[in-house]
Amino acid sequence: MAEPVLEVSGLTKSFGSVVALSDVSFAAYAGEVHAIVGDNGAGKSTAVKIITGIHTLDGGEIRLQGEPVSRPGAGGLGDQGIAVVYQDLALVECLDIATNLSLGQLPRRFGVLDRKRMRRDASEVLRSLKVRVTDVTTPVGLLSGGQRQIIAIARAVRQKRPLVLLDEPTAALGVQETAHVGEIIDELKRSGEAIVCISHDLDFVFRHADRITVLRLGRTVGTRLVSETSRSEVVGMITGAIGRADIEEAA
Ligand SMILES: Nc1ncnc2c1ncn2[C@@H]1O[C@H](COP(=O)(O)OP(=O)(O)O)[C@@H](O)[C@H]1O
Ligand SMILES: [Mg+2]
Repeated sequence: MAEPVLEVSGLTKSFGSVVALSDVSFAAYAGEVHAIVGDNGAGKSTAVKIITGIHTLDGGEIRLQGEPVSRPGAGGLGDQGIAVVYQDLALVECLDIATNLSLGQLPRRFGVLDRKRMRRDASEVLRSLKVRVTDVTTPVGLLSGGQRQIIAIARAVRQKRPLVLLDEPTAALGVQETAHVGEIIDELKRSGEAIVCISHDLDFVFRHADRITVLRLGRTVGTRLVSETSRSEVVGMITGAIGRADIEEAA
């Protein structure tokens, strides 16, 4: 098997006396969607924040394309090598689609913002995701939740990082919007990205993921190939009906 794009092993993290993570491990591969699932409080958000460098880790290791990028007490990846779509999306409502897609790397020409290029680049990245947008000068504030989610994903994709990490990308979306986000994730996967997707939505996970890692009470219960597991097995792993005796003892 190829080397994983992201390999997380034995992550531990406490907040004071609260042990948020005591053993989290998984590996994400190019051209695959890896879903991270688990009940509220399982440690999903903490794991993401360690991977993205918002939190420091107490122990364990993160490797990006084989290279260690973490050490205990220090931050995780920051923005090297990884594109993140946060749950709150962080778009600027009063700015248009093209500007939102370029935030952080606005194109300039003779020192002046190059709007033509910005609009051309925006149309191009949306086209590459097979998103039909008639007008990239539409303010993001006028878009639906699903359209915003797609713009946030497009902005992450535009950074051309080998790993895209999505935190609950369908949490606030309707059925059709969820399907559209799913199509974009499929498209990213076809283009060879490694995708890590935190999700509560098992329908979505079973439709789009290749591998599922289940967290429970700060530990990895296990990783399964979607082709070799079932919803009932995954639900059992989430609730503790199936799993590790040591987790239940700690609970
Ligand atoms: N900043 C924090 N301070 C104290 N406890 C925290 C903090 N962040 C998370 N926790 C605790 O860590 C555990 C895991 O939380 P979290 O990672 O948010 O889970 P999930 O995203 O899976 O719902 C929970 O018990 C939560 O209360
Ligand atoms: Mg969370």
